[in-house]
Amino acid sequence: MDIKESTSFIDPFTVELDIEQGVMRDAKNHIVRKASDMRGHYKDAAALDALADRGDPLHYEVFEVPVPEQYGHLQYCISTLQPGLVGEECFMTKGHYHTVIETAEIYLCLRGEGYMLMKTSDGKAAAEKMSRGRMVYVPPYWAHRSVNTGAAEPLVSFCVYPGDAGHNYGDIETEGFPKRVFSRGGEIVIE
Ligand code: F6R
Ligand code: ZN
Repeated sequence: MDIKESTSFIDPFTVELDIEQGVMRDAKNHIVRKASDMRGHYKDAAALDALADRGDPLHYEVFEVPVPEQYGHLQYCISTLQPGLVGEECFMTKGHYHTVIETAEIYLCLRGEGYMLMKTSDGKAAAEKMSRGRMVYVPPYWAHRSVNTGAAEPLVSFCVYPGDAGHNYGDIETEGFPKRVFSRGGEIVIE
């Protein structure tokens, strides 16, 4: 067998997912984002500050059993985004481009309701609906952020992307996303 220098050899393995709870059992990495981690991302900064002061609720978690960050491997995770509002804006993830920008991602929605907001650096924007059983293909070059529009349920997704993709959060902190998702009088509004 010819093992390439670029791509480590590892043994096969299995992970257990709890689709209802939106957790990966025995995850090695557990990333937790609370209201106070989301400063700069929501339209209503004062509402976010108030939320951070009032118990700093959980926004989302990511569970991973990582594999080598190399070409040929596939990273995968469970992303679980809680329901809630910051002012009128639905809870969302920070969002990012991949560092290797020509890498795609698949999001398979396992539970809940929401949107995947996407944008390119030259001004294109898109929003794809997420609900159980729908798969969103995030093509290369598109930054992506998920949004939970459900009133009471978490938005749970299984994500798969190239091992060497990496995450670029800095450009989103500067640029933001052109579309936001609000809940107004029980209606979901994207604007
Ligand atoms: C990985 C990916 C997702 C997100 C997760 C949290 O490339 O897109 O697994 O990492 O939904 O969102 P961020 O990373 O934007 O905080
Ligand atoms: Zn991604």
